[in-house]
Amino acid sequence: MIVCHCQNISDHDIHATIDWIRASDKRTIITPGKLYRALGKTADCGGCMPLFLATMRTNQNMTVPMQLRNLRHGITQENHDERRQKSNRIP
Ligand code: FES
Repeated sequence: MIVCHCQNISDHDIHATIDWIRASDKRTIITPGKLYRALGKTADCGGCMPLFLATMRTNQNMTVPMQLRNLRHGITQENHDERRQKSNRIP
């Protein structure tokens, strides 16, 4: 099924590209922009984005890598303020 008519991208192209990106880098966040770049194309009208994203979400490799989950939970307001003070400290 053709998902992007401007660039002639099928659902098979999307799934194959997601699998290829995930195989080459297990820690990357996969975005539509990365898929277009990997396919050597650029989005034109953007009308396909809802279907493009829905197709991406059906792929098993679209999960966020474990190393990148819950990154915000480690930062508390105290830790955040400490880092700011250290980086702005005048010697
Ligand atoms: S249909 Fe995909 S960019 Fe136009």
